[in-house]
Amino acid sequence: MKILVVGGGAREHALVWKLKQSKKVEQIFCAPGNPGIARFAECVDIAITDIPALLDFALKNKIDLTVPGPEAPLVEGIVDAFEGQGLTIFGPTQKAAAIEGSKSFAKYIMDKYHVPTAEWVGLDKYDDAIEFLGTVDFPCVIKADGLAAGKGAIIVHDQKEAEETIRKIMVDKIFGSAGTKVIIEEFMEGEEASIFAITDGQYSLILPASQDHKAIFDGDTGPNTGGMGAYAPAPLVTDSQLKKIRDEIIDPVIDGMAREGTPYRGVLYAGLMLTSAGPKVVEFNCRFGDPEAEVVLPLIRSDFAEMLHKAATRNLNDYELEVNRKFAVCVVMASSGYPGSYEKGKKIIGHDYDFGDNAIVFHAGTAHDHENSVVTSGGRVLAATAFDPNFLAARKQAYNVIKKIAFDGAYYRKDIGAKALKWFEKS
Ligand code: AMP
Ligand code: GLY
Repeated sequence: MKILVVGGGAREHALVWKLKQSKKVEQIFCAPGNPGIARFAECVDIAITDIPALLDFALKNKIDLTVPGPEAPLVEGIVDAFEGQGLTIFGPTQKAAAIEGSKSFAKYIMDKYHVPTAEWVGLDKYDDAIEFLGTVDFPCVIKADGLAAGKGAIIVHDQKEAEETIRKIMVDKIFGSAGTKVIIEEFMEGEEASIFAITDGQYSLILPASQDHKAIFDGDTGPNTGGMGAYAPAPLVTDSQLKKIRDEIIDPVIDGMAREGTPYRGVLYAGLMLTSAGPKVVEFNCRFGDPEAEVVLPLIRSDFAEMLHKAATRNLNDYELEVNRKFAVCVVMASSGYPGSYEKGKKIIGHDYDFGDNAIVFHAGTAHDHENSVVTSGGRVLAATAFDPNFLAARKQAYNVIKKIAFDGAYYRKDIGAKALKWFEKS
């Protein structure tokens, strides 16, 4: 197979790295890629949302399978455009991708098919939203309905904070048109976990559960980021919980999407809260999580390219998923200042060191400068992942890798995986 991966972050680096291990893969292209990806794939300079140029490239190069990494091209209809030209592409159509692109659509599906989630209401008039606050218990969560780069959910603790938040979203439009409508929902208490289900629209495979670390500082404090580290499998998601997640969440959503006439193919990412009343959905995404992909993909032993191809061509029923009995831990190195403003162009030392078979450094925000040195070019810069049958050894190795890399202003959390450790101690 000739494969085109769309994207240029650490998730796409992990996708390319994993696809490269497949015996069925002959060549990989990545648009636009990054300096780390360039070691495994041929990078082509096309933007992720330039769908006409991506389509033209895929047709000219006879691409057998396209794998979009981020949500933007999916929400903008890359799958519809490629399938319209007879190309095979792994991901949901534009209508199905609305499960991430529109929170109210996701809630409509969950309510109709009895999927556990927070109680909610959607309001598209400012006055109605303010009036509704008179009926809620605090804390509650206020969200912009559309895509807001992971920053669209705000937990509010009292009436004043809630009114200010609604004003910022609906009047000041801090999230642009994503805030034309707001969702006000119940605050759920518990541990969060991420589940990826690979589906062909009918059959699905559930990959090992993972846990992200969204907050910038240790102990889950400070503002939310895209994710500062992850580990998998997450022991707090037990086998009986996984069964519940399949029966009450994944299967009903896949069945429901098919019944609605918008069958869902690709990866369905369920962001869950493990509450005392069982797992409940926080949100759905139409793509792999980042950094969760960096720990889940290394655990897959069966042929990854074949799995994605079978999902895209509606043949997943005869694929057997095999998983490595290992743990993977990923620590993200970020630019100081992130998730606020930060400087770019800092020279990175040690990123290309050979870390052996049990570790890999995925590139996120990196670029070449005019001297061809690798420099920082984003908030999240690198994602160091290590794997080992022993959780502590994997975690130690990930931090050993981080210590061998340096750039001006490098920042990382020191407590990635601490929640798993606590869980192991308890059990
Ligand atoms: P979202 O933008 O929906 O992914 O939410 C971002 C983060 O906000 C989640 O990862 C949770 O930590 C938190 N969050 C969102 N909704 C809720 C909720 N209903 N209850 C508690 N926390 C929530
Ligand atoms: N790590 C969270 C996300 O990818 O949305």
